[in-house]
Amino acid sequence: MSQDDLKKRVAQAAKEYVIQKMPKGQYLGIGTGSTANWFIDLLAPHRDHFAGVISSSLASTERLLKLGFHVVDANQLPDAIAKQSHPMPIYVDGADEINPQGHMIKGGGGALTREKIIASMAQEFVCICDESKLVQQLGHFPLPVEIIPMAQTAVNKALALLGGQAQLRLIKSGKAEGQPYLTDNKGWIVDIHGLSIQDPIALEAAINQIPGVISVGLFAKRKADVLLLGKKETVESLRFS
Ligand code: 5RP
Repeated sequence: MSQDDLKKRVAQAAKEYVIQKMPKGQYLGIGTGSTANWFIDLLAPHRDHFAGVISSSLASTERLLKLGFHVVDANQLPDAIAKQSHPMPIYVDGADEINPQGHMIKGGGGALTREKIIASMAQEFVCICDESKLVQQLGHFPLPVEIIPMAQTAVNKALALLGGQAQLRLIKSGKAEGQPYLTDNKGWIVDIHGLSIQDPIALEAAINQIPGVISVGLFAKRKADVLLLGKKETVESLRFS
């Protein structure tokens, strides 16, 4: 069974989880990446179950619209819903790494800031991963940080003091190859290599304090509530307290 098969399998389990847990007529948050894409595709026949979906990237929005979902801007929710502390019961998204406490590294696909915003609006974060993403300690996957472009030198210096080597993310192919990768928010991304993250909550807070940082792809303060983990034999479900 390939990694992609595992992603599809876990996306199928997430679809069943969401349909079963959410009554008709509510708003669902949807993430970004190849696992989230499987989730979107498998959920498409059930799109009318939801009042609308809120998407964490332009790429996911495009896919959702093609499949006929009602995509709602995070600022355009009906007043009665918007004023609730958590306008969405559930946000479903993948991760690049997740530890046994539910802390995650995200942003491999560059959507970390919007993912963080939508995750903050949801009651429950359901993380969907294949089993390769579960690690004892976060940091092997380079930690993405979205920054204001003019702050790159200053941010890199501050990140070096935290013990990592920051590398500007560049476009890998096409006409713009070698140019800085541009996020949906027109930010740049630096990926921090060589971190061994002992205290994800403290590191997230420290990086958030650096002037010029838009957001960091550590999801520790707002971690996953549920992990659906795609394994060869089964999909394991873990709940973090
Ligand atoms: C995008 C993300 C993705 O959730 C993460 O990169 C995992 O992607 P995939 O499902 O393709 O392995 O954080 O910004």
